[in-house]
Amino acid sequence: MKKITEIIFLLSLLSWTSYAAVNDFCVADLKAPDGPSGYPCKPINEVTADDFVFSGLVEGNTTNPFNAALTSAFVTDFPGLNSLGISAGRLDIGKGGSIPMHTHPGATELLILVEGEITAGFMTPFHLYTKALKPGDVIVFPQGQLHFQVNSGNEKATAFLAFSSANPGAQLLDLLLFGNSLPSEIIAETTFLDVEQVKKLKARFGGIGIVSS
Ligand SMILES: *[C@@H]1O[C@H](CO)[C@@H](O)[C@H](O)[C@H]1NC(C)=O
Repeated sequence: MKKITEIIFLLSLLSWTSYAAVNDFCVADLKAPDGPSGYPCKPINEVTADDFVFSGLVEGNTTNPFNAALTSAFVTDFPGLNSLGISAGRLDIGKGGSIPMHTHPGATELLILVEGEITAGFMTPFHLYTKALKPGDVIVFPQGQLHFQVNSGNEKATAFLAFSSANPGAQLLDLLLFGNSLPSEIIAETTFLDVEQVKKLKARFGGIGIVSS
């Protein structure tokens, strides 16, 4: 009788552990639509080690108006991150380049500088927190805060990023203000910039109505 009880106990443990293994992670099925709690899970028998490794955090192409590149390892690049609330990235900023003011409404960000010098910071309505970072420095941008990164050194700069979300997203201030069809006169009124300056920025950030408004 004792033996049977032991066997039943072991069997129940076995079913418990296999159940736990299925639910400890949920590799994204990127073919299915994204939902508020992430992507649906890929069937467990189709999951491989490659789902948990991302080999793409290589140097980005900085030949663009910002002279900078963000290479992402978000859930859409790296399905193993699904539902884990974490992701990574790499920032390459050429000499004189910058990442414009932006926020990640749903994620706190860490920036770990490995090469060059980056001046980074964020601001609240009452304070500015900014510092020139050296290799080995780590800065945290608390969730939702408007922040920026500028290469303030004499060579290219490289940093690695970590986010407290599998899909942090980003809202770029310049794109929101100057990258759409909001009439230049309204932008000028709400920002106190001149209409001519607004048109110049619209041309830079892809806004509509550069000529007529
Ligand atoms: C980098 O981007 C520029 C502009 O899009 C392009 O002309 C160039 O070929 C790219 N370089 C590499 C190495 O992909």
